[in-house]
Amino acid sequence: MKKLMSLALVLSLVLGVASIALAQGPSGELEIFSWWAGDEGPALEALIARFAEMYPDVEVVNATVTGGSGVNARAVLKTRMLGGDPPDSFQVHAGQELIGTWVIADRMEDLTFLFEENGWMDKYPAGLLDLMSTDEGIWSVPVNIHRSNVLWYVPANLAEWGVEVPTNWAEFLAVCPTIQAAGVTPLSLGENWTVNHLWESVALAELGVDGWNALWDGSKAWTDADVVAMWDTFGQILDCTNDDAASLSWQQATDMVVNGTAAFNVMGDWAAGYMVTTLGLEPGEGFGWAASPGTDGVFMMLSDAFGLPVGAPNRDATVAWLAFVGSAEGQDIFNPLKGSIPAHLDGDVTNADLYNAYLQSAAADWASNTVVGSLVHGAVAPELFSSNFATVMEIFLSSRDATATSNAAAAVALQSGIGD
Ligand code: GAL
Repeated sequence: MKKLMSLALVLSLVLGVASIALAQGPSGELEIFSWWAGDEGPALEALIARFAEMYPDVEVVNATVTGGSGVNARAVLKTRMLGGDPPDSFQVHAGQELIGTWVIADRMEDLTFLFEENGWMDKYPAGLLDLMSTDEGIWSVPVNIHRSNVLWYVPANLAEWGVEVPTNWAEFLAVCPTIQAAGVTPLSLGENWTVNHLWESVALAELGVDGWNALWDGSKAWTDADVVAMWDTFGQILDCTNDDAASLSWQQATDMVVNGTAAFNVMGDWAAGYMVTTLGLEPGEGFGWAASPGTDGVFMMLSDAFGLPVGAPNRDATVAWLAFVGSAEGQDIFNPLKGSIPAHLDGDVTNADLYNAYLQSAAADWASNTVVGSLVHGAVAPELFSSNFATVMEIFLSSRDATATSNAAAAVALQSGIGD
């Protein structure tokens, strides 16, 4: 009897300790690595603030490396990953950017278990799940859907200048001299990656959906006549941009539209996040939007996501972070501030108190448009191609030679294994 009682005592002690451990949940430092610094920070900061309420024993380190589109952050991440010093989790684009770099190098954990545990297998659009997966697993948790191909303007300024929103690049080029004659930059542009960003909208318009997709499955040659012609059109468009582009951030290029020194800007819809959350503008009044010229009915998507690197110092806290990032609650905190729409299908995107008029229209387009992937933001090509594309662009900018540029792009595509 005595023996039985002491066994019961030991058991209840063990169970008690176990349930305290469970109730305690994860603890310790959790390093979240991203390029959402400064003006880009509010959405992530709000997400972290709620996570901190849910997990008071976790101390989140919000580690940012400034620089639009993650050009700088990815370089720092590469050094850390190769040096065996991964952050607990890092921002990455869903698609080839992660798969073609860190998944094929066996540096990421398969997150299928997390999708199953959280019932997410049918809570994300099938196309997005495909983008994040290989036959071996699911590699990231998406927090949003952003759109790359958006043209921004200020409706009152266009009305004053008598300028219509161009529906294709020929219309834009036709109105470019009129805008220039008014002393206004027709199309504002920023530092180098924003040139590539503009390019992907132009290429989509000029090659069409099939042509764009064919570049990435290797069934279309970069040396085809329509690709060469597209570079020429791109050059004419660049002649309608500001001379100081190289010294401006994407936010400063957006500012040019807002303050009336430029008529248009092509940028992803984080620009809507910036104009609403940072500048306090009202969508439709303070700024207007349209699909970038020639791309109406097409949604060039990208998705910001987080992954779990092999050897993450605080795996338990990272799993809790990923579960929160992928939840409808987390996404409804993050996206209204970020200028993006939730990837999770239960996101409350029809709630107009939460998601503003721009985001409502993005959600409607996402649901009804033809969806293609972004090059610059990691969806369609491995990082080897995207980073070498910078050299292709330099060749074009310094030579304006469409044929030489197309040849260089073809060589980079071959080296990067596109179409293999
Ligand atoms: C993109 C990213 C967006 C935004 C943008 C500008 O690559 O997906 O969330 O941060 O860069 O930096």
